[in-house]
Amino acid sequence: MLNSWKYFAATMAGAHKVTLHTQHGTQILQADASAIGRFVFDGPEQSFLGDWHIELSKDSPDAANLQEAASRLRDTDIPVAFPTETVYGLGADATRSAAVRGIYSAKGRPSDNPLIIHISSLSNLRRLLAPKTPSVSGLETPPDPVPPIYYPLISRFWPGPLTILLPLPTPSPLAAEVTASLPTVAVRMPSSTLALALIHLANVPIAAPSANASSKPSPTTAAHVLHDLSGRIDLILDGGPCGVGVESTVVDGLVNPPVILRPGGVSIDMLRSCPGWENVQVEYKDGAETRTPRAPGMKYKHYSPNARVLLFRGQMDAECAKRYLGKGTRIGVLTTKTWQKEPLQSVSRIPGEPSTSTVNSHVINGYRRAHEARECRGSEPAIAEIMPSLMPVPIPSAQYSRIELSDQDIYEVWTVGLGQSTAGIARGLFSALRELDQKGVDIIFVEGIDDNEGHAAAAIMNRLRKAAEAEIVL
Ligand code: TXA
Ligand code: MG
Repeated sequence: MLNSWKYFAATMAGAHKVTLHTQHGTQILQADASAIGRFVFDGPEQSFLGDWHIELSKDSPDAANLQEAASRLRDTDIPVAFPTETVYGLGADATRSAAVRGIYSAKGRPSDNPLIIHISSLSNLRRLLAPKTPSVSGLETPPDPVPPIYYPLISRFWPGPLTILLPLPTPSPLAAEVTASLPTVAVRMPSSTLALALIHLANVPIAAPSANASSKPSPTTAAHVLHDLSGRIDLILDGGPCGVGVESTVVDGLVNPPVILRPGGVSIDMLRSCPGWENVQVEYKDGAETRTPRAPGMKYKHYSPNARVLLFRGQMDAECAKRYLGKGTRIGVLTTKTWQKEPLQSVSRIPGEPSTSTVNSHVINGYRRAHEARECRGSEPAIAEIMPSLMPVPIPSAQYSRIELSDQDIYEVWTVGLGQSTAGIARGLFSALRELDQKGVDIIFVEGIDDNEGHAAAAIMNRLRKAAEAEIVL
């Protein structure tokens, strides 16, 4: 496997577009969204919801890499990993069974867990799902396959981290493997301009789960994808770290009242502010499942690092920590809003031992809702105008220390501070769990947050509860 530091150094080389090959043959192609070309809006909507096309920059290595990824999606059965604003997805042509089966086998995903299809325009979605009934006069327009309940959400949150359930038409243009025999299909339009451009160029709907090995935390960088799927896929399109960091919110508006099947980047309060969604209900379970979940994926072990994860509410201290420690247990600590300084209070640090405090300044795709930018700038903006150029966002890395608890046993501790902003916690969460795993810790103590503390708070706690063996209220 490619040494992750070499990979990081190559990524940071910046000016030179690098194609990386791993020893196992998985290629990483870099694509800077701001250097691929220019979007042109063709429809009356003058937005991604209508018709649009892209004028690719000639001689741009980023555009060439993007085209390579699109042609692999079109022409091969081996899935391609690509960035979205939420997490990296593992994509395949949703209309071809062999291609979709490639996703399940690369991830080791159970075949009864259906996939989200990713689209690049609302008009394409209508064309895809409109029943192909020949009209008598030849003039009638087919009924809109998107139920009216969804339009308030679509106009506000698409493109963006929201997935809606739609009735699957018969006959269906989608491969049966996408929906795992359900009568509905989950659909989302990502706001990552790289993802939108890729789907548009592939010219097919793209089925894509998160690009992690099944049960592992979702990937928010190309390096995470490589760690899980090296040798299992041929190509990863690297657009930098994901801006949101947790997956999309999945909603079902086909039932009354509508329900949230998975919490994500769009919060319940944001949904409730939309007409028809004031009474949206929570259908997912955060703790142990007691009945068959409506979103099949929610029943599986998820987001699990190798280490034991214990989720805490309240201030943890040494006395409390000791209950979970054996001799020489290596400890990971993940702090959020309040465990800022000394999560393991009343312990003595071993003098002279390193306590490295490093912050890696990774480069992240500046995530901004494309339609917000459009409102400010009018139509036909260059991609560079919609998405601000790559900007550095600090992703905290683990600090090492050695501590002595009152029993005189000495423990090694790696601490990741995710900061106090809910958006920052969401962005760094999966990365932090993966990093602590790589340090080889045996147990991870996590500081939980209030479910209602901002946009992605419920999603953060949902993922943590699924990763944790217990939630402990102190
Ligand atoms: O942000 C995201 O949604 C990411 C990126 C790549 O777009 N994708 C993602 O996909 O998280 P995945 O496969 O990891 O999660 C999809 C969730 C699963 O819980 C699945 O069971 C549910 O959506 N789902 C898919 N189709 C469904 C359907 N027809 N009915 C109910 N739930 C469905
Ligand atoms: Mg997933």
